[in-house]
Amino acid sequence: MRTPLMAGNWKMFKTPAETKAFFEKFLPLVATSTHADVAICPPFVDIAAAVEAAAGSRVGIGGQNCYWQNKEGAFTAEVTPAMLKAAGCTYVIIGHSERRQYFHETDETVLKRTKAALEAGLIPMVCVGELLEERESGRTNEVLATQFNGGIAGLTPEEFAKIVIAYEPVWAIGTGKVATPEIAQDTHKAIRDLVAAKFGAEAAAAVRILYGGSVKPDNVKGLMAKPDIDGALVGGAALKPEDFAGVVNF
Ligand code: G3P
Repeated sequence: MRTPLMAGNWKMFKTPAETKAFFEKFLPLVATSTHADVAICPPFVDIAAAVEAAAGSRVGIGGQNCYWQNKEGAFTAEVTPAMLKAAGCTYVIIGHSERRQYFHETDETVLKRTKAALEAGLIPMVCVGELLEERESGRTNEVLATQFNGGIAGLTPEEFAKIVIAYEPVWAIGTGKVATPEIAQDTHKAIRDLVAAKFGAEAAAAVRILYGGSVKPDNVKGLMAKPDIDGALVGGAALKPEDFAGVVNF
């Protein structure tokens, strides 16, 4: 059985003070539900506040990206996975579509970042997903296969066993247009099939595949009812304690 993971991606929102205020409200709302792992990935500057506020709770903290080596060096504005780990992080998001679209990250750098994150002992949430025009032209599975083969298939089986995959259709991110549970299920199944072909049936049965894209308290149940959907990577609805608690307590 795969334990669901509900992860919030705060993107470029919140200050340390707002982070503290969020956790004060959020933690009591999720204190009794234990059916899912919970994570919050705040901006780098909020990580210390989040780690402190979440200490002793069941909420793990994650970065939203990391550099692809753990050795320190002259790389202005970059952060190593080892630094995230030392700051108290458990998770790190890698290859989010906003990183791919606006900051030119590639499948190759996704793979390098993932390996470095694993080396530092973080759990990478590796994102894949197609653009609207790719879905409309029937190329979703081809795009996902390319991202999988370039960004994930280069892991060793031991490395692969430690990652989480996040499927985020770009057309559903921040648009309010959530994928229907059926579309999401079909695509998650296709991703699980790619995993099975590369890493075997056992690895495919074990890996958690999260859905991301306009997940809200009122649509999470339908998504989570599908057999291949193992959790959610949540943007907008993770910014308010009541909303994210509604997702976590689905
Ligand atoms: O990583 C989460 C994400 O991209 C989804 O954002 O705002 O559509 O939930 P949102």
